[in-house]
Amino acid sequence: AAYETIRTERTGRTALITLDRPEALNALNLRLMNEVVDAAESFDRDPGTGCIVITGSPRAFAAGADIKEMRPRSYMDMYLDDWFAAWDRLGAVRTPTVAAVSGHALGGGCELAMLCDILLASETAVFGQPEIKLGVIPGIGGSQRLTRAVGKAKAMEMCLTGRTMDAAEAERAGLVSRIVPGEELTAEALAVAETVAGMSAPVAMMAKEAVGRAFETTLTEGVRFERRLFHAVFATEDQKEGMSAFVEKRTPDFTNR
Ligand code: HXC
Repeated sequence: AAYETIRTERTGRTALITLDRPEALNALNLRLMNEVVDAAESFDRDPGTGCIVITGSPRAFAAGADIKEMRPRSYMDMYLDDWFAAWDRLGAVRTPTVAAVSGHALGGGCELAMLCDILLASETAVFGQPEIKLGVIPGIGGSQRLTRAVGKAKAMEMCLTGRTMDAAEAERAGLVSRIVPGEELTAEALAVAETVAGMSAPVAMMAKEAVGRAFETTLTEGVRFERRLFHAVFATEDQKEGMSAFVEKRTPDFTNR
């Protein structure tokens, strides 16, 4: 596909999607949303893909949904177009995803990062939900995912005042898994993705699905769900290969079956 607002590449089993609207600090307009979702779904459908990395530029992961595009729209425009609903399809991608965040991750940018499974940040990353300053509220899941990630106290303060978190605070609060020096961010994200992509793909999908359940359901139901998937992995050839490789003291050669 010919994309205008993103760049895509594949190295081995790892896919990289780079947001590329530098003139607007990667603001998420309709076109960019559709391109990211289309690219992610295409990679997801391709069994050659084991992990997808989404990144921006050193200055901005994404400075939010596109304010200029939204400004003139009415309630009916937003409702009938089901504005932002396409982002839900990114959350439904089965392949594990990694967000590599440098610079501004504000509003929809923070929400896009939180839609990914693993979130790595550089020291310059800044996270926030400043929508309230524009007279709106988060619309791509921020009020829910930020609260689940960092708890009510910080989420309320951020959504009500627009206060941002720097990378160190975001790591302490559990929003990001690790901080990586800026110049190593993309390489490190690709290395993490390569590690994930080297696991059994169906088993990685099940691990992703199981952890994701923790955000959706009660503990008892979540543990039950995990147990079902845990039993199911014994139907894979990769379980036999992984455990045999351990016993035989060699590296496993997963076939993704
Ligand atoms: C459209 C944007 C934009 C955005 C930046 N730009 N953010 N355009 N939508 N969200 C544009 C600017 O207009 C400008 O273009 C260019 O990008 C560079 O931005 P500057 O402001 O000149 O850069 P700087 O001074 O470095 O400030 C960076 C910044 C600031 C602090 C990130 O741009 C900013 O506050 N942006 C808005 C952040 C925000 O409120 N995000 C939430 C959006 S709402 P021009 O051509 O004008 O010079 C959202 C809500 C989702 O995401 C759900 C609600 C319905």
